[in-house]
Amino acid sequence: MSFEQPRSVYDRHVGRYSSRLASALIERAGVRGGDRVLDVGAGPGPLAEALATRLGAANVAAVEPSRTFADACRARVPGADVRIGTAEALPFENGRFDVALSQLVVNFMREPAAGAREMGRVARRTVASCVWDYAGEMWMLRHFWDGALDVDPDAPDEGRTMAHCSPDGLAALWRTAGLRDVETDELVVDALYADFDDYWSPFPQGVGPSGAYVAALDADVRERVRRAIYRRLGEPVGAFTLTARAWFVSGSPNA
Ligand SMILES: C[S@@+](CC[C@H](N)C(=O)[O-])C[C@H]1O[C@@H](n2cnc3c(N)ncnc32)[C@H](O)[C@@H]1O
Repeated sequence: MSFEQPRSVYDRHVGRYSSRLASALIERAGVRGGDRVLDVGAGPGPLAEALATRLGAANVAAVEPSRTFADACRARVPGADVRIGTAEALPFENGRFDVALSQLVVNFMREPAAGAREMGRVARRTVASCVWDYAGEMWMLRHFWDGALDVDPDAPDEGRTMAHCSPDGLAALWRTAGLRDVETDELVVDALYADFDDYWSPFPQGVGPSGAYVAALDADVRERVRRAIYRRLGEPVGAFTLTARAWFVSGSPNA
């Protein structure tokens, strides 16, 4: 499974953006002092950590199906209630939280409508989420898949394979899950890379769908893909920055 990875590997892949994205998500979702908040699909805990900094760990709970990531989250946010589980069957009673959040998770859920409905069951005020703009301006992954497609037209571009990664798609999902007053927005963050190797080196380690794709390639195809992505990035020499857009959605549970 592509999310049974050490935190150190994840943090150099999409995790490089996670802490900044967490701050933007918390702000846009209207989390305020005294709230109790659930982080669904917490991964190694960047959002749970940002929530604990603002609210205190005792007001933060997290659910994550990967045991490796759940352990990393527990170590990162001591005092938070971190449980193994999935969005589709949250192990909490109705209305236990003020806000339920998920960051970069909805598109990985087996049953996204059930997951969003469950988030609405356990939250009293707000259910909010964000998903990468895979088809557009999440440049780390967009350049990756465009380079892969230059070499391999059958590459499983997440811009095509991922569901619920547009504002309209997310709003429709939230309404299907029974949430009301639905709003969408964009969250834009950036990340600094020391050089191209800093960008490329997490991929062969297999994290996420892009890493799983690279890890399965023969050495010669992998090298051609690596070169194609380097060209897509504009053949950077030394440090460079990439921006990443995520689509945001929020709604209110029915009282
Ligand atoms: C891209 S990672 C995001 C992790 C973290 N939220 C972050 O912002 O860095 C996607 C996460 O969703 C988790 N996940 C996959 N299916 C899930 C489900 N059905 N319910 C909850 N989490 C799920 C994965 O194990 C993984 O940790």
